[in-house]
Amino acid sequence: MRRKYVVGNWKMNGTRASIGEAQAIAALALAHGQVDVAICPPFTLIAACVSACPGLTIGAQDCHSAASGAFTGSISAAMLVDAGAKTVILGHSERRDALGETSAHVRAKVAAALGAGLEAILCVGEPLDVREGGGASAYVAEQLLQSLPDAAGHDSARLIIAYEPIWAIGTGRTAELGDIAEMHGALRGALGDVGARTAILYGGSVSGDNAAAIFSLSDVDGALVGGASLTAAKFAPIIAAASTCG
Ligand code: PGA
Repeated sequence: MRRKYVVGNWKMNGTRASIGEAQAIAALALAHGQVDVAICPPFTLIAACVSACPGLTIGAQDCHSAASGAFTGSISAAMLVDAGAKTVILGHSERRDALGETSAHVRAKVAAALGAGLEAILCVGEPLDVREGGGASAYVAEQLLQSLPDAAGHDSARLIIAYEPIWAIGTGRTAELGDIAEMHGALRGALGDVGARTAILYGGSVSGDNAAAIFSLSDVDGALVGGASLTAAKFAPIIAAASTCG
């Protein structure tokens, strides 16, 4: 059985004043040893969270595909490793939509992250019109395959998929359980041989109220959590639900 994995995506939230929350989340992770827990704070807090939270996996929310060079404002995968990050969220819809990241960009970033020794959390998901038009599974499976470097499948332990329907992110609206189950099954199938070994997380308005039902689905291996990961108090019931369902 795959272990449940709960990842907090802090997005552009948090200053040094938030390190106490990270420490409280680290204590929750310690108390629920059967669940894997990570948080991905902004770049500016990675090194501080690594030092303040031994035992908690700390990650980033993006990296550049190049190792170094003239890319003002960007951060490479090797720099994340140097800061103590173990994982990185790539291809989040907020970057695909607002910053024009294509699946080709995401694919190069996933290759760079895996090559640097990081775990890569590859995000995929459909917009509302695609969901309403009935083509969500085919759309997301295609997006996954276009975002996946050929070599990624050889290391499914460091490749995590996060299915996040765009219309469910930050809206308080989650996908129907049947639709989540169908999508996770479709993505597992699209991954081929490594599908059975690859963790597929759900994301989009996961909260203490809906986490247990989502985690009870056999193809859901955990969650990528935005708003409800910003405080230990809101994150706690999600981690607890993962530990009960794991
Ligand atoms: P949300 O964000 O939990 O606030 O909907 C999830 C995400 O964007 O990763």
